[in-house]
Amino acid sequence: MRATLTCLFAASAMLIFPAAESFAEGDGNWKRGRIYYRAACTSCHTEEVGESISPASKKIAEWEAWIETPEGAEHLAEYVSQEYRASIAPDNKVAEKFAPIGNDDLWADIRAFVIYGAKDSATPATCN
Ligand code: HEC
Repeated sequence: MRATLTCLFAASAMLIFPAAESFAEGDGNWKRGRIYYRAACTSCHTEEVGESISPASKKIAEWEAWIETPEGAEHLAEYVSQEYRASIAPDNKVAEKFAPIGNDDLWADIRAFVIYGAKDSATPATCN
């Protein structure tokens, strides 16, 4: 419970103070990836799969392998896409705000976050 509250606080603090993030394009910004992961990926998983599927649910190598499978690649490409973001934007402030970000950049951000938060990373992200 305490972890959940901490995570919620961290997530909302980042929404309130977005200027604190440097949104560099290219290599993947795990902080931006975390915001989108929690706002878009986690909410659907909780609803449809019944669990959040946190980055810490897989090891770094498992994430890298999943991203390369046809299913993983397709899943990721679909749900980071501007088309998907536009479809949820009416009910999702993060998707609305992130609308201008290119698909490849958001893809890299998500990849950076799941690797950053993987089970065997220095910083496992167990809460959503
Ligand atoms: C609209 C719903 C929805 C969204 C949005 C969504 N997912 Fe999923 N995801 C699912 C469902 C349903 C499953 C379980 C069935 C499956 O594996 O496809 C799943 C499964 C997964 C799995 C587990 C696959 C495995 O075999 O271990 C991962 C990892 C995953 N999603 C990552 C993501 C990421 C990252 C995002 C955001 C960029 C995302 N998902 C967005 C519905 C969604």
